[in-house]
Amino acid sequence: MKIGVFDSGVGGLTVLKELMGTCANTQFIYVGDTAHVPYGNKSAQVVTGYARAIIRFLETQKVDAIVIACNTASALAYPALKKNVQTLLFEMIEPAIGTAATLTKTNCVGVIGTRATIASGAYALTAKKQTPQLIITSVACPLFVPLVEEGMLSHAITRAVAELYLAPLKGKIDTLILGCTHYPLLASIISQVLGKGVRLVSSAQAAAQVVHATLARPKVEPMLKSSHVALYATDEPSRLAEFARRAVRLPVGEAHLLHLSGL
Ligand code: DGL
Repeated sequence: MKIGVFDSGVGGLTVLKELMGTCANTQFIYVGDTAHVPYGNKSAQVVTGYARAIIRFLETQKVDAIVIACNTASALAYPALKKNVQTLLFEMIEPAIGTAATLTKTNCVGVIGTRATIASGAYALTAKKQTPQLIITSVACPLFVPLVEEGMLSHAITRAVAELYLAPLKGKIDTLILGCTHYPLLASIISQVLGKGVRLVSSAQAAAQVVHATLARPKVEPMLKSSHVALYATDEPSRLAEFARRAVRLPVGEAHLLHLSGL
């Protein structure tokens, strides 16, 4: 089976890692749209245009399913894409809400994400439809993405930024959705700031579980051994491969440059 996975850049590699750790005997094609990153401060119309161009490329590669491994694209573009993309599409939001609903004891759930994800209200709207008992409090954390990309995962500056962003959630939630590809890499600092009483939900992990269950892929044993991955970036492919190896610890080869047609 072939699964296409795409994101605005390097962040979706956290989702790819979860998928590779969950779905055995699978060929993955990953596209990082590094020419257009970040999506997190762009409009739905623009992000949907980029997503369509990537999906067209993945469809030429004859993938069986496509994972929108970007929370911003899931929030802004998925509603339009699902209406006319023929290939089976997976997104990040419903799985994360589903996992949060099973973990919370108080129904008070926080969501953090990019400015565009939070402004779209996609998490709150999905929760309203899927699990209306949840009370969602959302906070945009725009500086987290560049801090992760600079490798400042446990830096004092990151800690200070986390204190500032997460202050409105303190004492109000028992579960927090990490609604952005980069945030699982900040899980430890986020936990230190919010305390052990708050359970963290990785949207990457939740989505990988849904993909695994839906496609009925055999379970991976041992981790990461039986899948193959081809990496593409729309700009600076060496940075994508380097981030995959250094930050996400994925055993990948070189990334290829991809020119998206129709943009
Ligand atoms: N991948 C994006 C997300 O998950 C974060 C980076 C960006 O803004 O493009 O929302």
